[in-house]
Amino acid sequence: MSDVALVGVAKHYDGGDPDKPALKRTSLSIYSGELVVLVGPSGCGKSTTLRIVAGLEEPTAGRVYIGDADVTSVPPARRDIAMVFQSYALYPHMSVYKNLAFALELRKMSKAVIERRVGEVARTLGLEECLSRKPKALSGGQRQRVAMGRAMVRDPKVFLFDEPLSNLDALLRSEMRKEIARLHRQTRATCLYVTHDQVEAMTLADRIVVLDGGRIQQVGPPAEIYDKPANRFVAGFFGTPSMNLLSAAIERGEDGALARGSGFSLAAPAAVAPANEVLVGFRPEAARLREQPGAVPVRGRVELREVLGSEVLLHLRCDAGPLTVRTADRAAAGEGENLTVWLDRDRLHFFDAHSEARL
Ligand SMILES: Nc1ncnc2c1ncn2[C@@H]1O[C@H](COP(=O)(O)OP(=O)(O)OP(=O)(O)O)[C@@H](O)[C@H]1O
Ligand SMILES: [Mg+2]
Repeated sequence: MSDVALVGVAKHYDGGDPDKPALKRTSLSIYSGELVVLVGPSGCGKSTTLRIVAGLEEPTAGRVYIGDADVTSVPPARRDIAMVFQSYALYPHMSVYKNLAFALELRKMSKAVIERRVGEVARTLGLEECLSRKPKALSGGQRQRVAMGRAMVRDPKVFLFDEPLSNLDALLRSEMRKEIARLHRQTRATCLYVTHDQVEAMTLADRIVVLDGGRIQQVGPPAEIYDKPANRFVAGFFGTPSMNLLSAAIERGEDGALARGSGFSLAAPAAVAPANEVLVGFRPEAARLREQPGAVPVRGRVELREVLGSEVLLHLRCDAGPLTVRTADRAAAGEGENLTVWLDRDRLHFFDAHSEARL
């Protein structure tokens, strides 16, 4: 399996806003056997990136490599890549077997080889029972698996997925997510996977690439993206509910710097001290409802309580703004009550209020 590399790739579409390219100069490597997830809001350039790797779009600048080969001007059919789209685009008049075999027949492979290959893939994907059926007689999940099977029979160098699960209902989606994770562990195929679903990104990726406005915001393993978001955008994009962000001003004194916001203040770590205005971030699960030694108190009033089953979300109004905390304690506080939450210093994030970069 090959590595994929984008080197200084940019994309301006004809007729697109010249000041807002679909993709700004981007460099990215995907290592052999790795599953990299491209994630970001609608219009951020995910499909554009994928289509450039596939050869369906030509980059305006930069080079694309698969393995050692520069494929920038190589047509899609000669890149040895398989793409699975959101719309499965199965051939409706062909049986599942035919759908799986078609690409191999086009390559004039022998019947015996085709039978063996289709058989293997059907077994891997649990499609053996369905081989004689037409796509319309399949469930959404089965159709999805046929679409994946069609990519797998060809044994391509690289798999590209563009939101392959977004047509499925929530239950099937989570089933297929596990299925893809299992398949990837088994095959160790090199995959570039596009989604705007953060759960899919967190659970499937070896590494996540977060895109916004045609620019890479952060690249890293899922835990790193969650624990150390590079900027305010990434902090807000991962995690439901989003990270709480409170504005604070840095005051420099004899004993070091203090971050002071409305109704709270805390000693600012050295890395934060040079900034003037900051955002202090903490995730809903990083606040405690009982006093902790060294923790920072923030007082507020519970405006809304949402019981989600195993946990409760408390939405508070504080002097510093709205914030949300997550607790397992259903009896924690009622709507309208005043509450003090305690912020763990070790679990705070600091962002520069102007550049929005992590400090
Ligand atoms: N063929 C095209 N011509 C002109 N502009 C395009 C074309 N395709 C995409 N764009 C623009 O380029 C930007 C990036 O589009 P892209 O399809 O890569 O986004 P995306 O991240 O895949 O979004 P989504 O999650 O909605 O699929 C968008 O602003 C889009 O409108
Ligand atoms: Mg897209």
